[in-house]
Amino acid sequence: TTIYVPRDSAAVSVGADAVADAIARQAEAAGEDIRLVRNGSRGMLWLEPLVEVVTDRGRVGYGPVTPGRAGEVLAAILDDGEHELNLGRVEDLPWMSGQTRLCFARVGVTDPLSAEDYLAHGGLAGLRRALEQEPAAVVAAVTESGLRGRGGAGFPAGIKWKTVLDAPAEPKFVCCNADEGDSGTFADRMLIEGDPFCLIEGMTIAACATGATEGYVYLRSEYPDAVRTLRQAIEIAYAHGWLGEDILGSGRRFDLFVRVGAGAYICGEETSMLESLEGKRGMVRAKPPIPAITGLFGKPTVVNNVLTLASVPVILSDGAEAYAALGRERSRGTQVFQLAGNIARGGVFETAFGMSLGELITDYGGGTRSGRPVRAVQVGGPLGAYLPADRLDVPLDYEAFAAVNAMLGHGGIVVFDDTVDMASMARFAMEFCAEESCGKCTPCRVGSVRGVETIDRIVAGEDPDANLALLGDLCDLMTDGSLCAMGGLTPNPVLSALRHFPDDFTARQESQS
Ligand code: NAI
Ligand code: SF4
Repeated sequence: TTIYVPRDSAAVSVGADAVADAIARQAEAAGEDIRLVRNGSRGMLWLEPLVEVVTDRGRVGYGPVTPGRAGEVLAAILDDGEHELNLGRVEDLPWMSGQTRLCFARVGVTDPLSAEDYLAHGGLAGLRRALEQEPAAVVAAVTESGLRGRGGAGFPAGIKWKTVLDAPAEPKFVCCNADEGDSGTFADRMLIEGDPFCLIEGMTIAACATGATEGYVYLRSEYPDAVRTLRQAIEIAYAHGWLGEDILGSGRRFDLFVRVGAGAYICGEETSMLESLEGKRGMVRAKPPIPAITGLFGKPTVVNNVLTLASVPVILSDGAEAYAALGRERSRGTQVFQLAGNIARGGVFETAFGMSLGELITDYGGGTRSGRPVRAVQVGGPLGAYLPADRLDVPLDYEAFAAVNAMLGHGGIVVFDDTVDMASMARFAMEFCAEESCGKCTPCRVGSVRGVETIDRIVAGEDPDANLALLGDLCDLMTDGSLCAMGGLTPNPVLSALRHFPDDFTARQESQS
């Protein structure tokens, strides 16, 4: 009997290790010969720890299994399978069957550190295809697929790669931005913990396509399990000749290293990340020059997010056309959305662009966890706009979000119910910027502090009209005058809160008068 218990840190945080131990111990005591595999998470976080067993019908799930109930679940597994936590076939759960899993196809399915499992589930097919082609053809395939940067900005990945390929300087680098700092985001972590070889393969393809010989994954220190898993996966990849001086016997070389950040949000901005990788303090560099031409150590560098790179193997293996056939308008392929905040069913949901935000939150997320009405949703991290409940019909698509002054960003969706005070959320946005600003430019460094003070005055009822006008001016200045997205996008949450929830900024004055 093969039993799966996730090793993903979200599952471990709710007792998966204890569940795995209990199952192993009780199976031994009962003299049952079981094979226990620690997989990644399927991304249905409300069901974790989700125990799965391989049956004739496919993998059947039980969840959420507490350590105390592990024994009875094991007994049910070994007996007839009947138990109140039996969820049936995992693939048939609406959350799973409603998805199009390309990037996350193996996450939760395989043993993340088994090279054999990786190959058995289509691993390396993309890299093999890439090695058969000229670098320019690989770049062209990525361009034709329509893949855009999944870190948030949505810049076409193929154009970035072409810039690096065409840059004459050497050596060239591939850097993976895994400094996943946005609120409500965890897909980079789950991919690295659940299918690290996929990221390694994507980075190797990027290297072969652009002529890079060295790569770095910049991974945040808050993700110790991901750091450990990725380092082990890299060692295994070297041992199998998937990395190193002769990748799969092709004669091409690519070396890959992990570097751990120290907890600064701004190090997720690509030029700060490069500074940090060079061993310096994470300060933003002015662009241009862009990293594709003058990047790490001043050399041409591909900087892509985890999910961008992890989408590449399937594009190469299944073809650019198949990828581009998914999605809508200029948002092609799939995006890995993350449902968080006050949500009944939170987790990872990969789907082609185009589903409406409301459908994702209501049909799959099940509405709020509190059971109260949804009031606001923030998409795209702390720099993303707040959308009110009556605007959730917007399709998940980069341009459709931009058209309503919002942004899709890295796909993080944070839900709030009707008890949220949007003035305090606007204040939090300014406070967050003040806290995380790298300090290089005045609109952000000073503007954010003045922003907090101004919102405090508005809420306290001190000359609200003048202070509201001042806040508007300040936001304009931050948008136009900041060097990077940190200061430049902070006005998004502030102004959207003001626009959609103006009463929250005067409520306290009214209750005082
Ligand atoms: P950007 O629009 O300046 O650049 C996007 C990317 O395209 C960069 O890698 C840039 O170097 C590259 N690029 C631009 N022009 C190019 C050209 N002509 N040739 C080749 N490459 C070119 O955006 P930025 O500042 O890099 O990112 C901002 C976004 O980051 C925001 O929209 C936000 O969604 C996202 N973000 C994500 C976070 C996360 O944790 N994932 C955290 C904070 C922000
Ligand atoms: Fe630094 Fe803020 Fe200026 Fe960005 S906007 S460079 S974080 S001070």
